[in-house]
Amino acid sequence: MTIHIGAKPGEIAETVLLPGDPYRAKWAAETFLDDPKLVNEVRGMLGYTGTYKGKPVTIHGSGMGMPSLSIYVNELIRDYGAKTLIRIGSCGGMQDKVKVRDVILAMTASTISTPSRGIFKELNFAPSADWSLLKAAADAAEAKGVVPHVGGIYSADVFYDERPDLNEQMVRHGILGVEMEAAELYNLALRHGVRALAVLTVSDHLLTHEALPSEDREKSFGDMVEIALEAAFA
Ligand code: ADE
Repeated sequence: MTIHIGAKPGEIAETVLLPGDPYRAKWAAETFLDDPKLVNEVRGMLGYTGTYKGKPVTIHGSGMGMPSLSIYVNELIRDYGAKTLIRIGSCGGMQDKVKVRDVILAMTASTISTPSRGIFKELNFAPSADWSLLKAAADAAEAKGVVPHVGGIYSADVFYDERPDLNEQMVRHGILGVEMEAAELYNLALRHGVRALAVLTVSDHLLTHEALPSEDREKSFGDMVEIALEAAFA
């Protein structure tokens, strides 16, 4: 057990999927895993371990934002030995070609700041995904008939962003979407020599202001979970 995760040693798999929302962890585990077992509920941050095609997988909430994700990912890697960590979450689209419901595979994650800023100081470190996972996820998407966007995203510190000028620069520089967790996941994975990727579904759009109706969310989220699971074991 750690400060924030109540699982016993051995109850967390080496492969961990990380939705922000703990109830999505429950839904994904109950929908896609065999024999899902609740292994954590400290502070309501639900984590389940089961199997996918016979292989052990944990699906654990990360919470919203990089400080929350940093707590869980540090403990999952350092205390439970997680080796492959895939964020599955939503993002806001930032390019015309990126439509609501599309899947984005985040090759890099730009930021203003992350919880790792104190380490990097003046260095503009470039948090990037693990290539083997990125390629496997692109292949898994193609096999499902999903055409993903692969490229850079922006991991923001605030959802209600009062800096439209910054979003304009992101759009200008080809950033595909905005979310709030991937950059610190990538920093931590690179620091500890494990694999990470963010597979994202576009839930809203900063240019068109379109938003995914709630009844459509589950299906779009399902494609993303299957792409992540297939990529983890490719
Ligand atoms: N996650 C989903 N949509 C988002 C947005 N517009 N900004 C930040 N994070 C998001």
